[in-house]
Amino acid sequence: MTHILAIDQGTTSSRAILFDGERRIKAMAQEEFPQHFPRSGWVEHDPADIWSTTASTCRGAMERAGVRAEDIAAIGITNQRETTLVWDRETGEAIHNAIVWQDRRTAAFCEELRAEGFEAEITARTGLLADPYFSGTKARYILESVDGARQKAAEGKLAFGTVDTYLIWKLTGGAAHVTDATNAARTMLYNIREGQWDEVICDRLGIPLSMLPEVKDCAAEFGTTRADLFGRELPILGVAGDQQAATIGQACFKPGMLKSTYGTGCFALLNTGDTLVESQNRLLGTIAYQLDGTPTYALEGAIFIAGAVVQWLRDGLKIIRDAAETQPLAERADDNQELYLVPAFTGLGAPYWDAEARGAIYGLTRNTGPAELARAALESVGFQTRDLLEAMQADWQIDGGPEVLRVDGGMTASDWTMQFLSDIIGAPVDRPVIRETTALGAAWLAGMKAGVYPGVEDFGELWERDTRFEARMDAGTRERRYAGWKDAVGRTLTA
Ligand code: G3P
Repeated sequence: MTHILAIDQGTTSSRAILFDGERRIKAMAQEEFPQHFPRSGWVEHDPADIWSTTASTCRGAMERAGVRAEDIAAIGITNQRETTLVWDRETGEAIHNAIVWQDRRTAAFCEELRAEGFEAEITARTGLLADPYFSGTKARYILESVDGARQKAAEGKLAFGTVDTYLIWKLTGGAAHVTDATNAARTMLYNIREGQWDEVICDRLGIPLSMLPEVKDCAAEFGTTRADLFGRELPILGVAGDQQAATIGQACFKPGMLKSTYGTGCFALLNTGDTLVESQNRLLGTIAYQLDGTPTYALEGAIFIAGAVVQWLRDGLKIIRDAAETQPLAERADDNQELYLVPAFTGLGAPYWDAEARGAIYGLTRNTGPAELARAALESVGFQTRDLLEAMQADWQIDGGPEVLRVDGGMTASDWTMQFLSDIIGAPVDRPVIRETTALGAAWLAGMKAGVYPGVEDFGELWERDTRFEARMDAGTRERRYAGWKDAVGRTLTA
């Protein structure tokens, strides 16, 4: 009973990863599922897909590893954050598709909240901004748009949840309606100072408190799975939103430690310890993790397009067939051309928050070709990360600033991209041996609670670096290139 099963339910796929007692990956299973775009700017998932791909990847990983339920000590769950579900407590059926974090349909209502001055309340209580990104306004939309939902909600017949909560409900056969503090912190309904659902915000949004799950620590007893699912009842002992799980997997346990994950988007989290920093630069205040009833706070910068820019080179421009081709192509780019690609395909996230901005390319010449576009795409990820780090340093001064950036996610496979990142931020970038840091974070929470894995300090000591990228660019070039980026963004912003 030393294995830990980590569920990583992401935006485009569900994954299950089995770790052994030494935190080594024994097997992995992954399934993509359809994305639904009912209108421009709207993004939905079918809850049945979220559930069926999760259940089948769990079984798949167990089969591949030849591990039975008897060998598994606990389950850890990590998930795409903010994505919103509402279901009927009696039937367990969702009353609407899941509204995905990327969905912008509640932009007008968020504008209304800002116009009435309510954003300041939201920030003070939740650390967040009045933006459609978060769950609160999505839940309100479901209650407003589904026939009879308001009435049922008032009668206590409906349940709200982020993806972790929905999965636990399904895994436990409806026995548990729970979440963890990191997922609650992304709903815009949870007071991260007081550690409870916020009545003022829930009231303004018309969300009855009776719909909301119980909030627990990240390592806690969340329930046990139905025996018929995997062969025996398994305890769910760890839960964290995916970016927080990556922060844990990267062992960023001390104030000033910083990680950045490069998936579809990029999310940087800076551990600020017991200080909840009120950002003056439109970063988010959030909970990095909560253990033994004590929250550790973080400053978060969210960029919507990172790896997705490489997908665009492949599927939109068709200048590569595979993501791995981007680096060799970028290496061939003409040094005399300084192209800037601002990937505002779905607006710009932190620190700009311009939902209406759209992508732009500056510096095109008759000699510009696929190589220069590929290089500009990879560079855009470095420039955007620097934007986040500049904002973080302005918000929260620690002696000398963060010393090093720990990175993970698909794009970190590219040495060229990581070298440019180090060059443009002017600081070392560390890539760990285990790059599945999100799943590792969830597994560690569950494994630690089960008594199989070491405690915080020992786990932090065990973090191992694969490669350190040191800044090689001279300071003059660095600042000139970054000024070029700022100029390009300035010309792209709508306001
Ligand atoms: O906040 C959104 C984030 O949690 C989504 O992550 O990896 O599923 O794209 P990912």
